[in-house]
Amino acid sequence: MTNGKSRIIPGNDERQTVFVRNAESGDAQAAADLLRRSITELCAADHQNDPATLERWLRNKTPERFLEWLASPENRVFAAIAGPALAGLGILGISGEIRLCYVLPGMNGRGVGTALLRAMEAEAREMKIERISLESSFTAMGFYKRRGWRPAGEPKPGFGVTMRYPLEKILVQLPLDTERLPHVFYRAWRPAEEWTIDVVPAQGHRLEEYGAAQEGYKAVRLIDVAGRLRAELIWRLATGNNVEITELAVLEPADRRRGMGSALLYAGMDSIRSFRKGKQFEPCKVYAFCEAVNGPGRAFYERHGFAMAAQLPGFYRDCDAILYVREFE
Ligand SMILES: CC(C)(COP(=O)(O)OP(=O)(O)OC[C@H]1O[C@@H](n2cnc3c(N)ncnc32)[C@H](O)[C@@H]1OP(=O)(O)O)[C@@H](O)C(=O)NCCC(=O)NCCS
Repeated sequence: MTNGKSRIIPGNDERQTVFVRNAESGDAQAAADLLRRSITELCAADHQNDPATLERWLRNKTPERFLEWLASPENRVFAAIAGPALAGLGILGISGEIRLCYVLPGMNGRGVGTALLRAMEAEAREMKIERISLESSFTAMGFYKRRGWRPAGEPKPGFGVTMRYPLEKILVQLPLDTERLPHVFYRAWRPAEEWTIDVVPAQGHRLEEYGAAQEGYKAVRLIDVAGRLRAELIWRLATGNNVEITELAVLEPADRRRGMGSALLYAGMDSIRSFRKGKQFEPCKVYAFCEAVNGPGRAFYERHGFAMAAQLPGFYRDCDAILYVREFE
């Protein structure tokens, strides 16, 4: 489970960022708890607190079953993170049906469900699926309809007293060049904006010789819905067991101080965590150099838990460098 150390603050309205990543086996217990609570507490209009209905509906919402869903090649399972905790869960079937979309009680009404739904729609788009479908609860129908979903047939009986409402959506293809984005890990949403963050290999030089080391050389890119690159972070395995952030930039000055850098750093740290899993020499520190005169850059790293480790006189042509280091938690 990732740890949103960066600026992922539930309830911090405008600046809140919801991250959606691929679910992992470590999410199993939290996922089962989330599903059970979400159904019990948020879907009362459906189950009407009828014990037999709830028992049927909750019966397969267990960590074991979650692991089966995760392992199935038929599913893409997504976890929404807001704050340090799992806040939503979604499952997209590979033929384009949304099998599950639930938000943790208390985290509803904060964009988590929207982020999940968009992640699944975007994933389906990348799979070249033109029509996606789902069977909604009564509770969630308004939510889907406000996001462009339309009725697609008569309601059907569900668990116990519940009904399932077939809905569909025709997906508009975006200009994003998805062929070149094989490793989409993160999507981040903020009100009125949608970004995709992906992680791609940064270089392909002499792979037969340096392939293993270059696995630890990634470009983390923040791309808007028009397919434009708006910000990027590059990291590399530097000293065998430490990682260096070699580049970090929000390209247009007008885009700065709006959370893009934080979103990239979050995704970047998570991609480093994934990389280090199971490695013989696990990278244990992340470091970055910053010009001593770069106030925003320094404030940014310090805000995100990097500590100043050294000042290097004359490191750059015009000024000193500050070496920042952050330990892995
Ligand atoms: C440094 C940079 C990547 C930060 O990205 P960003 O998207 O602007 O940063 P965020 O909006 O995510 O800011 C996160 C936090 O960093 C700190 N911060 C960022 N910019 C700051 C600034 N200009 N002044 C003071 N603090 C700042 C703040 O604590 C901020 O949180 P807050 O807005 O809630 O106070 C961006 O300013 C940039 O691209 N600068 C030019 C390239 C560069 O200097 N890269 C770093 C090389 S060392």
